[in-house]
Amino acid sequence: MGKMSVDLAISARRARRVLSEEPIGSSIVDGLIEAMRLSPSCYNNQPWNVIVVRSPDALEAVKANLPRGNSWALSSPLVLAIISKAPDDCQLSDGRDYNLFDCGIAVGEMLLQATSLGIIAHPIAGYDPIATKKVLGVPEEYTLITLVICGHPGSDTSMLSEKQLEQEGQRPARKPVGQNFHEDLWGSGF
Ligand SMILES: Cc1cc2nc3c(=O)[nH]c(=O)nc-3n(C[C@H](O)[C@H](O)[C@H](O)COP(=O)(O)O)c2cc1C
Repeated sequence: MGKMSVDLAISARRARRVLSEEPIGSSIVDGLIEAMRLSPSCYNNQPWNVIVVRSPDALEAVKANLPRGNSWALSSPLVLAIISKAPDDCQLSDGRDYNLFDCGIAVGEMLLQATSLGIIAHPIAGYDPIATKKVLGVPEEYTLITLVICGHPGSDTSMLSEKQLEQEGQRPARKPVGQNFHEDLWGSGF
């Protein structure tokens, strides 16, 4: 698949759950990594650590720690584990720790890159964080922020709940703009 414009990638990106088991080629993996490498961060701290999980053994160990609601992820050939700790990024005196923010930007850019390359990339929070950190050898002081479940689009919908099946076809609704965007003043609506 060719490259997309950014506005097309933004509208085409979806947290899809029907993945093929087909391996993802290394040039695509390199493209995902490059999107994260080039993303902005406070003081250029680049607080993300990423484990590219793609060997059969490592994938199996990670997948063993998913809840039933994320069974759709079992067919994935590539999982990106995003790991960080607050001291690796700006920590301002009023409590602003920027590591999660900067990892979020990097993942966001990578999701668009994946979309542009025709790959589903779906971040999840639903996994056993302690067990998953352990199988990946992540030191205790780090936070495993998300697993990004990747795959080529698939066709087997048997792992999806009814709700997930519905969401597959239709993007979950967003809040109306006036609810959380404001014009000039908090609470003014937009
Ligand atoms: C931090 C984060 C955690 C998520 N965790 C899960 C998850 O555990 N399981 C799942 O099926 N989807 C998960 N999602 C996907 C969201 O449900 C999805 O992005 C949202 O419903 C909007 O749908 P869309 O991305 O297709 O527009 C997660 C998304 C994010 C950003």
